[in-house]
Amino acid sequence: MNTPVYPVRWQNDRVLLIDQNRLPNEYTYVEIDLVEDMAEAISTMIVRGAPAIGVAAAYGMYLGAKEIKTTDRDEFLAQLTEIGKTLRATRPTAVNLFWAIDRMEATALQCAGSVAAIIPQLLVAAQQINSDDIATCQAIGAHGVAVLPSSPAKLCLLTHCNAGALATAGYGTALGVVRSAWTQGRLARLYADETRPRLQGAKLTSWECVQEGIPVTVIADSMAAHCMRQGLIDAVVVGADRIAANGDTANKIGTYSLALVAKAHNVPFFVAAPRSTIDFSLHDGSGIPIEERHPSELYQIGETIVCPPGVEFYNPAFDVTPANLIQAIITEFGAFPPAEIIDLKNR
Ligand code: MRU
Repeated sequence: MNTPVYPVRWQNDRVLLIDQNRLPNEYTYVEIDLVEDMAEAISTMIVRGAPAIGVAAAYGMYLGAKEIKTTDRDEFLAQLTEIGKTLRATRPTAVNLFWAIDRMEATALQCAGSVAAIIPQLLVAAQQINSDDIATCQAIGAHGVAVLPSSPAKLCLLTHCNAGALATAGYGTALGVVRSAWTQGRLARLYADETRPRLQGAKLTSWECVQEGIPVTVIADSMAAHCMRQGLIDAVVVGADRIAANGDTANKIGTYSLALVAKAHNVPFFVAAPRSTIDFSLHDGSGIPIEERHPSELYQIGETIVCPPGVEFYNPAFDVTPANLIQAIITEFGAFPPAEIIDLKNR
């Protein structure tokens, strides 16, 4: 099978989400036509990955707007802000969520007409965010291949978590670079960290690769240093949930250790993300809010409890990789040393 994967789709006046909690065993869709259900789908990670969350939230804003029962413009805008607050409360780290909601609210404000005129504009805006993201990811893929090491001719890349089609509107950021490398004959193999605790690498990244015939080897997160010392990895490419203005990058927990290990082994470490993931309001990564998730992600594997009673847990979902460990940040505008992404502020 080589059918493109679209995790968020607008069809028959509702949103279809690929249920990412059921992959790779079941490929099913959840139908969403209420904003409350969209908020629930984001927080329970039926849809996940920074850009995909942004697209889903944009459609959520439209679904919520359709249900507002007033024709008074100011009252409508006030209720839309409340809908935005519900969606903003779902996941704190991925800035694309806030970026997309801001953009939807700005669309409503800028539309001079009646409430009846604003609502269809919100659907247009959500569809635009959706289609733009696919084009953005394809551009990231092309720029990414251009900055990968020039030798060997066929590279072995390592990634963490899932920054693939499933995590975006389609194609992927880090996995977009992998896809482009594969298409151009520059990829020998992808190593995928399994990505504890939720296993996005083992379940999702490997699934995407298998769909396209990309050779993939899943490793436990703790194996990366060993693989690098053996010379198995030519470069690391990961996605991002929020990038501060100085290039410090929040991504899935374990990314920071991977970057340290890459530095120690002289393996180049790349971040691939759209401009919408850069939070220019934050000077550095210390201001990035880090989501903490339920301890059951640690003490339970499937139905099985793996820890004895009386244990305490700490389950941050993301960490921050300092800019000095990152060789380049690959965006739709090109690849930049972290210190230069500030130049994208006015693009
Ligand atoms: O908790 P998740 O699965 O939403 O985390 C996803 C990641 O950390 C991705 O690497 C990131 O969002 C980039 S997706 C293109």
